[in-house]
Amino acid sequence: MRAKTIIEPFRIKSVEPISWTTRELREQLLRAAYYNLFLLPAEDVLIDLLTDSGTGAMSTHQWAGLMEGDESYAGGRSFDHFRDSIQHIFGYKHVIPTHQGRAAERILFNVACKKGDVVPNNTHFDTTRANVEFVGAEAVDLVIPEGRQPSLKHPFKGNMDVEALETLICNVGRARVPLVMLTVTNNSGGGQPVSMENIRQVSAVCRQNGIPLYFDACRFAENAYFIKLREPGYASKTPQQIAQAMFSYGDGCTMSAKKDGLANIGGFLCTNDDTLAQREKDLLILTEGYPTYGGLAGRDLEAIAVGPQEVLHEDYLQYRIASIAYLGDHIAAQGVPIVQPPGGHAVYIDARAFLPHIPPAQFPGVALAAELYLEGGIRSVEIGTLMFGAAAKMDLVRLAIPRRVYTQSHIDYVVEIILEVWKNRDKICGLKLSHEAPFLRHFTARLEPVEGVLAR
Ligand SMILES: Cc1ncc(COP(=O)(O)O)c(C=O)c1O
Repeated sequence: MRAKTIIEPFRIKSVEPISWTTRELREQLLRAAYYNLFLLPAEDVLIDLLTDSGTGAMSTHQWAGLMEGDESYAGGRSFDHFRDSIQHIFGYKHVIPTHQGRAAERILFNVACKKGDVVPNNTHFDTTRANVEFVGAEAVDLVIPEGRQPSLKHPFKGNMDVEALETLICNVGRARVPLVMLTVTNNSGGGQPVSMENIRQVSAVCRQNGIPLYFDACRFAENAYFIKLREPGYASKTPQQIAQAMFSYGDGCTMSAKKDGLANIGGFLCTNDDTLAQREKDLLILTEGYPTYGGLAGRDLEAIAVGPQEVLHEDYLQYRIASIAYLGDHIAAQGVPIVQPPGGHAVYIDARAFLPHIPPAQFPGVALAAELYLEGGIRSVEIGTLMFGAAAKMDLVRLAIPRRVYTQSHIDYVVEIILEVWKNRDKICGLKLSHEAPFLRHFTARLEPVEGVLAR
């Protein structure tokens, strides 16, 4: 018999203390951080759900790998381990290391796109959108309509609207679409997966038009596991077989190894195109480093060589997806509006529905994130009007769960705090901007409560 209780599939060998603060201190800290949780000192956060990026715990094999790191400038053996591991899963001809995902994006869009181009994606992540726009191209989000309705349940809300893609290519002309991207899972759309069927259809449209298909592969293993759980025909396949099948429909990918790479830093760019790869490596040398290290230490490459293999273990993925659902289901059961169903790496609270008295222009997501910090020292992040400006279709608060870091009692605490804030939600006020940067403004924005205080 298989027990019903799904447990953390690891033992804890090394621990890191977390620190308590009083509400009074948190009020002062929040004011000093201009109500922007990015500006808080991390040591004043009790449970840090700001991001699942680079915040995971490495395994004993990864730590052992660090000691094996070959720090040679060129031709180091750690690069061979890294490349072989990535090629085994992703299957692409060229593997180019970068210091993180956005560096891979910058290089790809610099080389493949020019002013006036259009890049379709299911939903661009903030750095992806910013990198497309930085070269003067237009980033277009084409997620299916169901993906824009937070409370609607659908097994693959990250799917791309294939008809909309065909229409867009037809309207702007194939020559202006240098590549199509699929983000798996769809982070900005709620961590929702993309089905194999959708990948196949998008790939077919790309092939018909001679346009390369790239994956934003940050959470490829979580996406593969959702396909196994939800898509007919995949239940008996391993996550690795599913991931390999997903990537076989594309021509390359960008990847932040800080997510499903289970590493604390790193990323890579893959392509099957020899000419493009050469231009990408030339640019890499200029800005990141030699192509056998790409801005990373040899030891980082060793950790990344191990991570993508471990992340595909089925007991890990079962625990991972079950623990995210546990948080989402427990708050939703009490009426908290969340993006349904819970995503692969995070639970997203629908801040517009949680705080209907705060208009999007007064940043309901930022106000809710600030209140969760005040109430219980929890740090989350707004994905909405502050992050995307007027282009934001939703105002969400993302509670991203670092991999292999928190236990179920930490999550029970988070549930308790969210439900407390939910009870007092009508007392929360909106915010206004007092400072903003010209791009990616959410990282450094300064805000203040419209009514002088955050809670009435
Ligand atoms: C979908 C997606 N793409 C790209 C990135 C950028 O990766 P990085 O933070 O390593 O630059 C992220 C990071 O959160 C992401 O979630």
